[in-house]
Amino acid sequence: MKMKIAITGKGGVGKTTFAAIISRIYVSEGYKVLAVDADPDPNLALALGFPPEITSEIVPISEMKNLVAERTNSTPGAFGKMFKLNPKVDDIPERYCKEYNGVKLLTMGTVDTGGSGCICPENVLLKTLTSHLFLQNKDIVIMDMEAGIEHLGRGTAQGVDVFIVVVEPGIRSIQTYKHVKKLAEDIGIKKIFAVANKIKNEEDIKFVLQNIDEKNCLGFVHYSGAVGNSDRVNHSPYDSDKVTVEEIKKIKEKLDAVINN
Ligand SMILES: Nc1ncnc2c1ncn2[C@@H]1O[C@H](COP(=O)(O)OP(=O)(O)OP(=O)(O)O)[C@@H](O)[C@H]1O
Ligand SMILES: [Mg+2]
Repeated sequence: MKMKIAITGKGGVGKTTFAAIISRIYVSEGYKVLAVDADPDPNLALALGFPPEITSEIVPISEMKNLVAERTNSTPGAFGKMFKLNPKVDDIPERYCKEYNGVKLLTMGTVDTGGSGCICPENVLLKTLTSHLFLQNKDIVIMDMEAGIEHLGRGTAQGVDVFIVVVEPGIRSIQTYKHVKKLAEDIGIKKIFAVANKIKNEEDIKFVLQNIDEKNCLGFVHYSGAVGNSDRVNHSPYDSDKVTVEEIKKIKEKLDAVINN
Protein backbone atom coordinates (compact mmCIF):
# COMPACT_ATOMS: atom_id res chain seq x y z
CA MET A 1 0.00 0.00 0.00
CA LYS A 2 1.34 3.36 -1.02
CA MET A 3 0.17 6.08 1.30
CA LYS A 4 1.78 9.44 1.84
CA ILE A 5 0.39 11.73 4.47
CA ALA A 6 1.67 15.23 5.15
CA ILE A 7 0.71 16.86 8.44
CA THR A 8 0.82 20.61 8.82
CA GLY A 9 -0.84 23.32 10.88
CA LYS A 10 -0.15 26.32 13.05
CA GLY A 11 2.50 26.07 15.76
CA GLY A 12 1.50 24.13 18.86
CA VAL A 13 -1.83 22.75 17.60
CA GLY A 14 -0.78 19.12 18.00
CA LYS A 15 0.82 18.11 14.69
CA THR A 16 3.57 16.08 16.30
CA THR A 17 1.19 14.43 18.75
CA PHE A 18 -1.15 13.46 15.92
CA ALA A 19 1.70 12.28 13.67
CA ALA A 20 3.12 10.11 16.45
CA ILE A 21 -0.21 8.52 17.39
CA ILE A 22 -1.32 7.80 13.85
CA SER A 23 2.11 6.35 12.99
CA ARG A 24 1.85 3.94 15.90
CA ILE A 25 -1.72 3.03 14.96
CA TYR A 26 -0.62 2.00 11.45
CA VAL A 27 2.25 -0.01 12.93
CA SER A 28 -0.13 -1.74 15.34
CA GLU A 29 -2.08 -2.84 12.28
CA GLY A 30 0.99 -4.38 10.72
CA TYR A 31 1.95 -1.68 8.24
CA LYS A 32 5.48 -0.46 7.62
CA VAL A 33 5.62 3.17 8.60
CA LEU A 34 8.29 5.72 7.92
CA ALA A 35 7.67 8.76 10.10
CA VAL A 36 9.49 11.81 8.82
CA ASP A 37 10.31 14.75 11.04
CA ALA A 38 10.54 17.71 8.69
CA ASP A 39 10.24 20.34 11.40
CA PRO A 40 13.37 22.48 11.77
CA ASP A 41 12.94 22.00 15.52
CA PRO A 42 12.52 18.23 15.51
CA ASN A 43 10.78 16.41 18.36
CA LEU A 44 8.80 13.62 16.76
CA ALA A 45 11.20 11.04 18.24
CA LEU A 46 10.10 12.01 21.73
CA ALA A 47 6.42 11.85 20.85
CA LEU A 48 6.98 8.40 19.34
CA GLY A 49 8.42 7.28 22.66
CA PHE A 50 12.03 6.84 21.52
CA PRO A 51 14.29 6.42 24.55
CA PRO A 52 17.02 8.99 25.32
CA GLU A 53 19.81 6.62 24.18
CA ILE A 54 18.38 6.83 20.68
CA THR A 55 17.15 10.43 20.59
CA SER A 56 20.51 11.73 21.77
CA GLU A 57 22.14 10.04 18.78
CA ILE A 58 19.88 11.51 16.13
CA VAL A 59 21.61 13.76 13.65
CA PRO A 60 19.29 15.43 11.13
CA ILE A 61 20.13 14.61 7.52
CA SER A 62 20.85 18.27 6.68
CA GLU A 63 23.53 18.29 9.38
CA MET A 64 25.33 15.18 8.15
CA LYS A 65 28.13 17.14 6.52
CA ASN A 66 29.97 14.16 5.09
CA LEU A 67 26.82 12.64 3.67
CA VAL A 68 25.81 15.95 2.09
CA ALA A 69 29.27 16.41 0.62
CA GLU A 70 29.59 12.84 -0.63
CA ARG A 71 26.16 12.75 -2.27
CA THR A 72 26.29 16.17 -3.87
CA ASN A 73 29.98 15.99 -4.75
CA SER A 74 30.54 19.25 -2.92
CA THR A 75 33.19 20.51 -0.57
CA PRO A 76 31.89 21.29 2.92
CA GLY A 77 31.88 25.03 3.53
CA ALA A 78 32.90 25.94 0.00
CA PHE A 79 30.64 28.59 -1.45
CA GLY A 80 29.73 29.05 -5.07
CA LYS A 81 31.38 25.83 -6.21
CA MET A 82 29.77 23.35 -8.56
CA PHE A 83 27.90 20.40 -7.16
CA LYS A 84 25.51 17.68 -8.24
CA LEU A 85 21.83 18.59 -8.48
CA ASN A 86 20.61 15.01 -8.57
CA PRO A 87 22.24 13.30 -5.60
CA LYS A 88 21.62 9.62 -4.90
CA VAL A 89 19.13 9.38 -2.06
CA ASP A 90 17.29 6.07 -2.41
CA ASP A 91 19.32 4.30 0.28
CA ILE A 92 19.11 7.16 2.80
CA PRO A 93 15.76 6.37 4.49
CA GLU A 94 16.77 2.81 5.32
CA ARG A 95 20.35 3.65 6.30
CA TYR A 96 19.78 6.72 8.39
CA CYS A 97 16.42 6.11 10.04
CA LYS A 98 16.12 5.08 13.68
CA GLU A 99 13.58 2.48 14.68
CA TYR A 100 11.64 2.02 17.89
CA ASN A 101 8.23 0.55 18.74
CA GLY A 102 8.14 -0.60 15.11
CA VAL A 103 8.19 2.94 13.73
CA LYS A 104 11.05 4.04 11.54
CA LEU A 105 11.93 7.67 11.95
CA LEU A 106 13.87 9.89 9.60
CA THR A 107 14.87 13.33 10.87
CA MET A 108 15.38 15.77 8.03
CA GLY A 109 16.69 18.99 9.57
CA THR A 110 16.22 22.45 8.21
CA VAL A 111 15.36 23.24 4.63
CA ASP A 112 15.95 26.84 3.84
CA THR A 113 12.59 28.42 3.15
CA GLY A 114 13.86 31.98 3.05
CA GLY A 115 12.10 32.32 -0.28
CA SER A 116 15.47 32.92 -1.83
CA GLY A 117 15.35 29.33 -3.08
CA CYS A 118 18.88 28.91 -1.81
CA ILE A 119 20.58 26.35 -3.98
CA CYS A 120 23.05 24.92 -1.55
CA PRO A 121 24.06 21.27 -1.26
CA GLU A 122 22.06 20.65 1.96
CA ASN A 123 18.89 21.94 0.35
CA VAL A 124 19.37 20.00 -2.82
CA LEU A 125 19.85 16.81 -0.83
CA LEU A 126 16.77 17.45 1.33
CA LYS A 127 14.59 18.36 -1.60
CA THR A 128 15.66 15.33 -3.59
CA LEU A 129 15.10 13.14 -0.54
CA THR A 130 11.65 14.60 0.17
CA SER A 131 10.65 14.03 -3.39
CA HIS A 132 11.94 10.45 -3.23
CA LEU A 133 10.00 9.78 -0.02
CA PHE A 134 6.71 10.89 -1.53
CA LEU A 135 7.12 9.60 -5.05
CA GLN A 136 9.06 6.34 -4.85
CA ASN A 137 9.33 5.04 -1.33
CA LYS A 138 6.99 2.11 -0.67
CA ASP A 139 6.25 2.51 3.02
CA ILE A 140 3.47 4.52 4.52
CA VAL A 141 5.10 7.92 4.91
CA ILE A 142 3.81 10.26 7.59
CA MET A 143 5.51 13.62 7.50
CA ASP A 144 5.35 16.08 10.39
CA MET A 145 5.90 19.47 8.75
CA GLU A 146 5.83 23.14 9.54
CA ALA A 147 2.81 25.20 8.57
CA GLY A 148 4.23 26.32 5.26
CA ILE A 149 4.23 24.04 2.28
CA GLU A 150 6.05 26.52 0.08
CA HIS A 151 9.15 24.38 0.04
CA LEU A 152 7.31 21.44 -1.48
CA GLY A 153 7.69 21.70 -5.22
CA ARG A 154 4.68 21.04 -7.40
CA GLY A 155 6.03 17.69 -8.55
CA THR A 156 6.79 16.54 -5.03
CA ALA A 157 3.49 17.71 -3.59
CA GLN A 158 1.72 15.62 -6.22
CA GLY A 159 3.09 12.55 -4.47
CA VAL A 160 1.26 13.43 -1.26
CA ASP A 161 -2.01 11.52 -1.01
CA VAL A 162 -3.47 13.63 1.75
CA PHE A 163 -2.63 16.86 3.46
CA ILE A 164 -3.87 16.96 7.01
CA VAL A 165 -4.03 20.36 8.64
CA VAL A 166 -4.40 20.11 12.40
CA VAL A 167 -6.47 22.91 13.90
CA GLU A 168 -7.70 23.79 17.36
CA PRO A 169 -10.94 25.57 18.15
CA GLY A 170 -9.71 29.10 17.42
CA ILE A 171 -9.59 31.43 14.46
CA ARG A 172 -5.83 31.57 14.12
CA SER A 173 -5.20 27.89 13.44
CA ILE A 174 -8.27 27.79 11.20
CA GLN A 175 -6.80 30.69 9.25
CA THR A 176 -3.65 28.60 8.78
CA TYR A 177 -5.82 25.73 7.52
CA LYS A 178 -7.41 28.02 4.93
CA HIS A 179 -4.05 29.35 3.86
CA VAL A 180 -2.52 25.89 3.48
CA LYS A 181 -5.59 24.65 1.65
CA LYS A 182 -5.28 27.44 -0.86
CA LEU A 183 -1.56 26.92 -1.38
CA ALA A 184 -2.07 23.19 -1.79
CA GLU A 185 -4.96 23.64 -4.20
CA ASP A 186 -2.89 26.06 -6.23
CA ILE A 187 -0.39 23.30 -6.89
CA GLY A 188 -3.08 20.79 -7.77
CA ILE A 189 -3.59 18.91 -4.49
CA LYS A 190 -7.19 17.90 -3.95
CA LYS A 191 -7.25 15.98 -0.70
CA ILE A 192 -6.78 18.49 2.08
CA PHE A 193 -8.51 17.81 5.36
CA ALA A 194 -8.64 19.34 8.79
CA VAL A 195 -8.40 17.43 12.05
CA ALA A 196 -9.64 19.41 15.02
CA ASN A 197 -7.63 18.82 18.16
CA LYS A 198 -7.89 19.97 21.80
CA ILE A 199 -11.67 19.96 21.72
CA LYS A 200 -13.15 20.68 25.12
CA ASN A 201 -16.90 20.77 24.55
CA GLU A 202 -19.78 20.89 22.07
CA GLU A 203 -19.23 24.61 21.59
CA ASP A 204 -15.75 23.89 20.28
CA ILE A 205 -17.09 21.41 17.75
CA LYS A 206 -19.75 23.90 16.63
CA PHE A 207 -17.14 26.60 16.28
CA VAL A 208 -14.93 24.43 14.09
CA LEU A 209 -17.87 23.41 11.90
CA GLN A 210 -18.94 27.03 11.48
CA ASN A 211 -15.54 27.70 9.96
CA ILE A 212 -14.69 24.48 8.16
CA ASP A 213 -17.01 22.48 5.94
CA GLU A 214 -17.93 19.24 7.65
CA LYS A 215 -16.92 17.27 4.55
CA ASN A 216 -13.41 18.68 4.87
CA CYS A 217 -13.04 17.72 8.51
CA LEU A 218 -11.80 14.21 9.24
CA GLY A 219 -12.73 14.32 12.88
CA PHE A 220 -12.27 15.62 16.38
CA VAL A 221 -9.76 14.82 19.09
CA HIS A 222 -10.65 15.93 22.58
CA TYR A 223 -8.36 17.74 24.92
CA SER A 224 -6.76 15.12 27.15
CA GLY A 225 -5.00 15.82 30.41
CA ALA A 226 -3.06 12.56 29.99
CA VAL A 227 -1.82 13.57 26.53
CA GLY A 228 -0.75 16.99 27.82
CA ASN A 229 0.97 15.35 30.74
CA SER A 230 2.75 12.83 28.51
CA ASP A 231 4.74 15.75 27.10
CA ARG A 232 5.74 16.87 30.59
CA VAL A 233 6.93 13.41 31.62
CA ASN A 234 8.24 12.56 28.16
CA HIS A 235 6.07 9.56 27.34
CA SER A 236 4.53 8.76 24.00
CA PRO A 237 0.97 10.14 23.87
CA TYR A 238 0.07 6.83 22.20
CA ASP A 239 0.76 5.04 25.48
CA SER A 240 -0.94 7.71 27.57
CA ASP A 241 -4.62 7.89 26.69
CA LYS A 242 -6.69 5.10 25.13
CA VAL A 243 -9.58 7.46 24.41
CA THR A 244 -7.36 9.75 22.32
CA VAL A 245 -5.96 6.75 20.45
CA GLU A 246 -9.52 5.53 19.74
CA GLU A 247 -10.50 8.96 18.44
CA ILE A 248 -7.50 8.99 16.13
CA LYS A 249 -8.27 5.42 14.98
CA LYS A 250 -11.65 6.68 13.78
CA ILE A 251 -9.93 9.50 11.94
CA LYS A 252 -7.56 6.96 10.42
CA GLU A 253 -10.50 4.94 9.12
CA LYS A 254 -11.93 8.01 7.41
CA LEU A 255 -8.50 8.77 6.05
CA ASP A 256 -8.13 5.28 4.56
CA ALA A 257 -11.52 5.77 2.93
CA VAL A 258 -10.68 9.16 1.37
CA ILE A 259 -7.32 7.95 0.13
CA ASN A 260 -8.86 4.94 -1.54
CA ASN A 261 -11.46 6.79 -3.53
N1 LIG B 1 -5.43 16.40 22.43
C1 LIG B 1 -4.58 17.00 23.26
N2 LIG B 1 -4.88 17.15 24.57
C2 LIG B 1 -4.01 17.77 25.40
N3 LIG B 1 -2.82 18.25 25.07
C3 LIG B 1 -2.46 18.14 23.78
C4 LIG B 1 -3.30 17.51 22.80
N4 LIG B 1 -2.66 17.52 21.61
C5 LIG B 1 -1.47 18.13 21.83
N5 LIG B 1 -1.36 18.51 23.12
C6 LIG B 1 -0.22 19.20 23.76
O1 LIG B 1 -0.01 20.44 23.10
C7 LIG B 1 1.39 20.71 23.00
C8 LIG B 1 1.77 20.92 21.55
O2 LIG B 1 1.56 19.67 20.87
P1 LIG B 1 2.51 19.24 19.67
O3 LIG B 1 3.94 19.35 20.03
O4 LIG B 1 2.00 17.94 19.19
O5 LIG B 1 2.12 20.40 18.65
P2 LIG B 1 2.85 20.82 17.30
O6 LIG B 1 1.79 21.36 16.41
O7 LIG B 1 3.66 19.70 16.77
O8 LIG B 1 3.80 21.97 17.83
P3 LIG B 1 5.03 22.68 17.05
O9 LIG B 1 4.40 23.66 16.12
O10 LIG B 1 5.80 23.32 18.12
O11 LIG B 1 5.78 21.59 16.32
C9 LIG B 1 2.11 19.54 23.65
O12 LIG B 1 2.40 19.87 24.98
C10 LIG B 1 1.08 18.43 23.60
O13 LIG B 1 1.24 17.49 24.63
MG1 LIG C 1 5.68 19.64 16.29
